[in-house]
Amino acid sequence: MVGRYVLSLLCVVSAANAVWPEFRFASYYGDHMVLQKAPERAVLWGYASDRSKVFVILAGQQEIKKQAAYVQNGTWRVTLDPVNAGGPYNVTAVQQGPAHAQVTLTDVLFGDVWLCGGQSNMVFLLSKVFNASEELALAPKFSHVRIFMAALELSKKELIDLPKVEMPWSLPSTELLGNFSAVCWLFGRYLYETLGYPVGLVESCWGGTPVEAWSSPRALHKCSLEEQEDNSYLSVSPNEMEPSPKRDNSVLWNAMIHPLLNMTIQGAIWYQGEDNTQYHLDKYGCSFPAMIDDWRASFHQGSGGQTAADFPFGFVQLSTHFKGAVKDGFPELRWHQTAGYGFSPNPRMQNTFMAVALDLPDEGSPWGSIHPRDKQDVAHRLTLGARAVAYREKGVSFQGPFPVKVLLSQDSINIFYTQAISVSLSITIFEICCTKVQEPCSSDSKWLPAPIMQWGRSSVQVSAAMCEEVVSGLRYAWRDWPCDFKACPVYSADQELPAPPFTTNRWP
Ligand SMILES: *[C@@H]1O[C@H](CO)[C@@H](O)[C@H](O)[C@H]1NC(C)=O
Ligand SMILES: *[C@@H]1O[C@H](CO)[C@@H](O)[C@H](O)[C@H]1NC(C)=O
Ligand SMILES: *[C@@H]1O[C@H](CO)[C@@H](O)[C@H](O)[C@H]1NC(C)=O
Ligand SMILES: *[C@@H]1O[C@H](CO)[C@@H](O)[C@H](O)[C@H]1NC(C)=O
Ligand SMILES: *[C@@H]1O[C@H](CO)[C@@H](O)[C@H](O)[C@H]1NC(C)=O
Repeated sequence: MVGRYVLSLLCVVSAANAVWPEFRFASYYGDHMVLQKAPERAVLWGYASDRSKVFVILAGQQEIKKQAAYVQNGTWRVTLDPVNAGGPYNVTAVQQGPAHAQVTLTDVLFGDVWLCGGQSNMVFLLSKVFNASEELALAPKFSHVRIFMAALELSKKELIDLPKVEMPWSLPSTELLGNFSAVCWLFGRYLYETLGYPVGLVESCWGGTPVEAWSSPRALHKCSLEEQEDNSYLSVSPNEMEPSPKRDNSVLWNAMIHPLLNMTIQGAIWYQGEDNTQYHLDKYGCSFPAMIDDWRASFHQGSGGQTAADFPFGFVQLSTHFKGAVKDGFPELRWHQTAGYGFSPNPRMQNTFMAVALDLPDEGSPWGSIHPRDKQDVAHRLTLGARAVAYREKGVSFQGPFPVKVLLSQDSINIFYTQAISVSLSITIFEICCTKVQEPCSSDSKWLPAPIMQWGRSSVQVSAAMCEEVVSGLRYAWRDWPCDFKACPVYSADQELPAPPFTTNRWP
């Protein structure tokens, strides 16, 4: 008797489920979250029964607002009226009709939402950085910086929601932050210190992954990369050598980025490229900017125009891997990260900003020298870029010295920089290209070390005397590991920002 009673009850429950899908928010909305503040409007969505009416109530300390949601094909969606930075608010979604239901998100703040993407150096945990215990202990002081992490998932087709959440929206505790991205957190924390209003951080990244995995088929098509090649044995990092479907075209775009498109965001930061030093290296100057373009267009469309069509995109130029490495793709990859300009933003990559990191090597990193532990300087440099580019703060310098003019002659070369510089003679990493005839230089040309002879406020003169043939080009810091920690020859005058690497041809 008892058994039969249970059985019939189960039938009733499952029948009810079939008719009325569970009323809820999509996976990445939750208590303690940060929604994008005004002037943008936050988009909220979830699941509902098609035959119901849904509205959303935003309840703050002073005001209560109610807005109707749009219901279609099992989902509801609402674009909130603009809300200024602050909070907390409770956001309640109500399903009216025969299947009345409601769900409330509590302690919701409005601020700027930043997405953090990339591979292992973005994944790199706060518990592994230098001074980790001090950084972790600071966490509770920053209760207006909120964190969220997507789970590692891949998919052959585009998903509309995250299959799984690794860390739901949370206040930063020492324990949770130990498992959160150091660069993402430190960027958010430094940004909060200058903005003074809430910052939401969405971490969606995976170690050992090439840019192709994070790119949509549209973006790959732009660079003729739609053919899937066998990339399963990339070996940039010894512990990432297992064959992995996570490297396949678009699989992470499909499962870890596409689901987020309907959320309004302020911008994105990105730390990736190590994998591509061994895979489609020569295409990265196309594939990386193409991915940025495509993310921008897609987030803009997914949010119904709320996320800017040219949202700010910050990235870290590759740091270092092997001290003695001669040819391992790092210099080329760094150059491709800037679409061949050497700096960012540039005409091809507008509204981007770059943190140079090649002067932050860490030979003794217990997680491999490809994972330097100083993420504070990386995040600090990114934050400077965000302030200048994303927030248009005047007077913030965020780019290291870059040549505006290079005058090559047969016995010396004069380099004129964009800004005042500080120079040290500790190491010779200018190199001249010495060719038999007047011809363009390549990586295979003869490159000779060119010592600095003298320097001025914003110029450097290097010797070309060692070239007995034709002086055809100049490059700087063109190697995986150009200098010891913060000991490259050229910095900004205040010694804060390293000169990025460059290469230049006399006979292009
Ligand atoms: C949100 O809901 C919680 C719990 O129901 C309540 O304690 C709090 O006062 C509410 N906050 C606002 C701003 O309405
Ligand atoms: C409706 O939703 C289903 C499953 O969520 C999806 O497969 C289908 O493509 C959707 N249809 C439309 C018109 O959006
Ligand atoms: C990280 O996560 C693990 C389990 O997932 C947990 O045991 C640990 O306490 C967390 N925090 C730190 C700081 O590692
Ligand atoms: C998310 O945005 C895409 C692109 O605009 C749209 O096709 C999709 O229906 C949206 N999903 C929801 C649940 O609103
Ligand atoms: C670690 O802390 C020491 C002492 O405060 C400081 O000098 C050093 O710069 C810090 N290192 C990093 C990477 O922040």
